Amino acid sequence: MTDQAPAQYAGPQRVLSGVQPSGALHLGNYLGALVKFARLQHEIDTFIFVADMHAITVWQDPALLANQTREIAAAYLAAGLDPAKATIFPQSAVPEHAELAWVFNCVARLGWLDKMTQFKEKSGKHKERSSVGLYTYPVLQAADILIYKSTHVPVGEDQKQHLELARNIAQKFNHDFDAPGYFPLPEPLIQGPGARIMSLRDGLAKMSKSDPSDLSRINLTDDADAIAAKVRKAKSDPNPLPETVDELKDRPEADNLVGIYAALSGVTKEAVLADFGGQGFGAFKPALADLAVASLGPVSEAMRRYLADPAEIDRILAAGAHKARDAAAPTVAEVKKMVGFWGA
Ligand code: AMP
Ligand code: TRP
Repeated sequence: MTDQAPAQYAGPQRVLSGVQPSGALHLGNYLGALVKFARLQHEIDTFIFVADMHAITVWQDPALLANQTREIAAAYLAAGLDPAKATIFPQSAVPEHAELAWVFNCVARLGWLDKMTQFKEKSGKHKERSSVGLYTYPVLQAADILIYKSTHVPVGEDQKQHLELARNIAQKFNHDFDAPGYFPLPEPLIQGPGARIMSLRDGLAKMSKSDPSDLSRINLTDDADAIAAKVRKAKSDPNPLPETVDELKDRPEADNLVGIYAALSGVTKEAVLADFGGQGFGAFKPALADLAVASLGPVSEAMRRYLADPAEIDRILAAGAHKARDAAAPTVAEVKKMVGFWGA
């Protein structure tokens, strides 16, 4: 323990986030993550990766995984990420993530990981049959973030606890190795109506790729007819929309549909209710369907265009991996020195 108050991290700000290549992307991923990434690249140095090492914490078909990685990259580009502005790369192409994760495995405490609710959800009733990787997944996530000394992490609300863990690891590392302010304490960027998009069939369940009902989510690859049909069939309630956000409180489905409208059009829920308050879902749903088709149509179109040229995607990912390795290597070299490894 030093007597001084710990110094704050004083380096530059950096944004980092990633999405796993483990299934089709949906509207929740788009609004909770991709749209934010594209906006932030204009404001701060931005690193966005495809979390393929996280994906294999549950079984992935080896014949499909590389293509799933290209699909996420295509979605990034379609959502507006620009490789000239943001560094876009596959996680497994930067082996330094795994190296730092091992050191962090020795910094994080079992008691911290035991609290992670996502592990509990994903491992279900048969925890003992889960991979060890699934358990230690948030430690790798902390390494993803801290290896670039990232200060801001745009994610959906479900990742909040993993960000707290990353902060705890950064703090304990800085303390244990007597390096105040070495790692920043990264902040999640969660605000906005897109942070938690709920299922179209159940306003209390998160929109998720693992929901067995395809009607519960709008996929980025859905065509206009499918999007319109899903909005039309979305669960709602018999009452007209209220005038104030407060009155949405006990109406989860209405709240979610208003939230989706707000996020897609880039306004607040208040503004949506100022337009639609007093109207029923018979009027609101067609407006929402039109908006969803108009917003997502060009995205899925662009995704198809990028996927038609996998060599170009590979070129972008290889160039991104090269830049990412250059940024990651100094951190790992310094950490090895601090830990006391031979030759470091
Ligand atoms: P995942 O598909 O779970 O790998 O999530 C990728 C990103 O999308 C993460 O930042 C999540 O927090 C975000 N995300 C996933 N589902 C939702 C949702 N229903 N609403 C908002 N964001 C979400
Ligand atoms: N765990 C995140 C998810 O499921 C994906 C992820 C892995 C991530 N590493 C990250 C997100 C680092 C932000 C920062 O969505």
